[in-house]
Amino acid sequence: MSFEINNICCIGAGYVGGPTMSVIADKCPNLTINVVDINQQRIDQWNQSDLSQLPIYEPGLKEIVSKCRNKNLYFSIDIEKHIKSADMIFISVNTPTKVKGIGAGQASDLKWIEASAREIAKFAEGKTIVIEKSTLPVKTAAIINKILQESNTEINNSDREFFVLSNPEFLAEGTAINDLNQPDRVLIGGDNQEAIDALKNLYLNWVDENKILTSNIWSSELSKLIANAFLAQRISSINSISALCEATGADIKDVSLAVGMDSRIGNKFLESGPGFGGSCFKKDILNLVYICKHHGLDEVASYWQKVIDMNFWQQKRLSEIIISSLFGTISEKKIAILGFAFKANTNDTRESPAIKICRDLLEEGGNLQIYDPRVSKEMINHELQKQDENIKNNNDYKKLWKYCESVQQATYGVDAVLILTEWEEFKNIKWQKLSKSMRSPKWLFDTRSITDIEEAKSAGINTWRLGNSEAI
Ligand code: UDX
Ligand code: UDX
Repeated sequence: MSFEINNICCIGAGYVGGPTMSVIADKCPNLTINVVDINQQRIDQWNQSDLSQLPIYEPGLKEIVSKCRNKNLYFSIDIEKHIKSADMIFISVNTPTKVKGIGAGQASDLKWIEASAREIAKFAEGKTIVIEKSTLPVKTAAIINKILQESNTEINNSDREFFVLSNPEFLAEGTAINDLNQPDRVLIGGDNQEAIDALKNLYLNWVDENKILTSNIWSSELSKLIANAFLAQRISSINSISALCEATGADIKDVSLAVGMDSRIGNKFLESGPGFGGSCFKKDILNLVYICKHHGLDEVASYWQKVIDMNFWQQKRLSEIIISSLFGTISEKKIAILGFAFKANTNDTRESPAIKICRDLLEEGGNLQIYDPRVSKEMINHELQKQDENIKNNNDYKKLWKYCESVQQATYGVDAVLILTEWEEFKNIKWQKLSKSMRSPKWLFDTRSITDIEEAKSAGINTWRLGNSEAI
């Protein structure tokens, strides 16, 4: 049996579905790609003519959308129609950590995956390849398969056939287009060789064959989870050493460089910072912990739990350092927060370390002036409120932070500047000039090691850099 692929549908027009389908449309002009979503507002944003207003910011994305949209790339809420016409369906919906019930706080909530499978079961026609793109707990494919196969038995339609594959996404936000254009590897898991070949042929339009790995579906699902767990583990490892550097007189930048030059270790993902954020790392490790516990592997579970604990501790200790440096109280003091996104080059704030750090500072009564080049006031407000109902109910809280439109505005009249995201524009801050608008004594806390600390010092600012022991 061979597959003829002409129409592709992707359920979920988010950070994964949007860029991934845009690149596929760009690389495969003969295919028609329909990205569908239940969120009308999100689809409207993908369709609006002002490309600077796309729902997600990703370097290089708007150029591709401008080239392919309404030619072979379409965004729509008509889920039924596009599932019906699809030969291949990607599921890219969100899979957040469960907030209640069994496995709350650890297991992934698969309700959206299940809902997508049910929609496919209802509307699909003919032979359809169904692909898990979202990162999922091992064995989720079995759930999707069961829903699809049993729907077939029920409606007794012998023309319909489903083939479930796992094809996890490895893109990182901020570099998504590049990661998709030049992937380190493409992983396809499944048990039907023809279906695997059909997906492989799609990638062969731009990816070398030796970079396309195939495996059974469970190895593919687990590999994605483990890749994220290993990446997060490196960050927690280097962050734990940043605290040791501060205590011993070593410098984390020197240590990272020396350690990373060992080719067995490699130099990537060794930058210490305020802790990892993003929609995946925490969720995926919690999920891994849950699966390990489920299988009675308690030691394995607690090993991985430590990666999360270290990440939380890093955020907590940063706010404590700031408070103790500012003479133990920040009440009535103004602090500029530079950067709210979880990393540079994205407008995504999910699990951003800035959320906890800002919240801790707000709870201590600090006045925050927050600026991020890509994150809106509404989003910051949403994140700060979402974290804590007590804050939400406290009317004073909104008076304690102010949204700013520029570095200049955010740093005006402040006692301290706190850099949380490594945006390019923060690297070029002229401290001599900026220091004039700060109140004395002045402090700079650089959690990303990106600024010219010497210039800041010479401008009369007390400086602190993560992983460096020089006293403030
Ligand atoms: C993804 C992944 O798919 C997830 O597994 C991964 O771990 C994080 O990244 P992402 O694209 O970042 O999700 O999520 P998001 O930006 O929230 O987009 C998901 C979209 O799916 C949303 O626009 C939502 O409206 C849509 N959705 C959700 C549907 O269209 N149908 C549903 O039933 C549920
Ligand atoms: C991650 C994975 O990299 C990607 O393969 C997967 O598909 C989704 O999850 P993403 O979360 O978008 O991608 O970004 P990533 O670049 O991995 O950064 C995650 C967090 O780690 C950010 O908060 C970043 O600032 C932090 N980080 C990264 C560090 O603190 N130090 C580093 O050296 C690298």
